[in-house]
Order: sequence, then structure tokens, then C-alpha cells
Amino acid sequence: MYTDKVLEHFSDPHNVGEVENPDGVGQVGNPICGDVMKITIKVKDGRIADVKFRTLGCAAAIATSSITTDMAMGKTLEEAQAITRQQVADALGGLPTNKLHCSNLAAQGLHVAIKDYLAKTGAAVKGAGSPAAEGAE
Ligand code: FES
Repeated sequence: MYTDKVLEHFSDPHNVGEVENPDGVGQVGNPICGDVMKITIKVKDGRIADVKFRTLGCAAAIATSSITTDMAMGKTLEEAQAITRQQVADALGGLPTNKLHCSNLAAQGLHVAIKDYLAKTGAAVKGAGSPAAEGAE
């Protein structure tokens, strides 16, 4: 059912917790199952200098949160904002069809954290705001 990569990130998730004095916070809930995820970011020179997550959710939610933080680490805000749930699912080698909605949580949480940072600082990111695959399924 789950790929080895999903099981790996579920049993030993990366970047768990909260960054100290975060520059941006994203908290999102999955309307389908009620699971929640909080992502905190530290931004330096326009890049994600640190990112951590806390997720109350299923195995897929934990694994997608873990790999999303890996994918976002060190990226520019523009690159991180462009990470889609499909890319997250692909990075895990795919998700079972009935678990695809779980990948939404992490990508959305990351995007909300970046938007929070941008709102606080008044900064702007080129191309930000409408990742094609965002939104609940
Ligand atoms: Fe809720 Fe997966 S079942 S995020």
C-alpha cells in the first residue's frame, strides 16, 4: 500500500518540532479527515534557512510533512512556494489514491507559512500565490 519511502519518512520523520522565533507560521487542517499540521519557517536572505513541522495525522500526512520540509530546506521562497502536492507525492514514490488528499496538508502548510512571512515583512515573491495543484480534493 505505502512505498518504502513513505514508510521511511513515517517511521523516522525529518525536521519534527518548531523552529525558535519563527519568521512564518502555517497551520492548516485537512477538511476531509480533520488532521492538522503546523509548519514553522526561518527565512534568511530570501531562502528557507530552517523549517520544522508538527502534524497530527495519518502515516501519509507525517511522511508528506517530513519530505516537504526536506524539499523546502534551503530553497528560495519562490521555489518553496512552487512546491506542489503532486511533487510531494512523487518524491515519496507515489501515494495510494485514497491518501492523495493527505499530501495537500504539507504543501499548503508550507505555502501558508511563507505567506505569513510575506505578510509580516511586506516582502513579495515573484510567482507566489497560486500553485496550480493547491486546494482540497
Ligand atoms: Fe488525514 Fe491523511 S487521513 S491527512
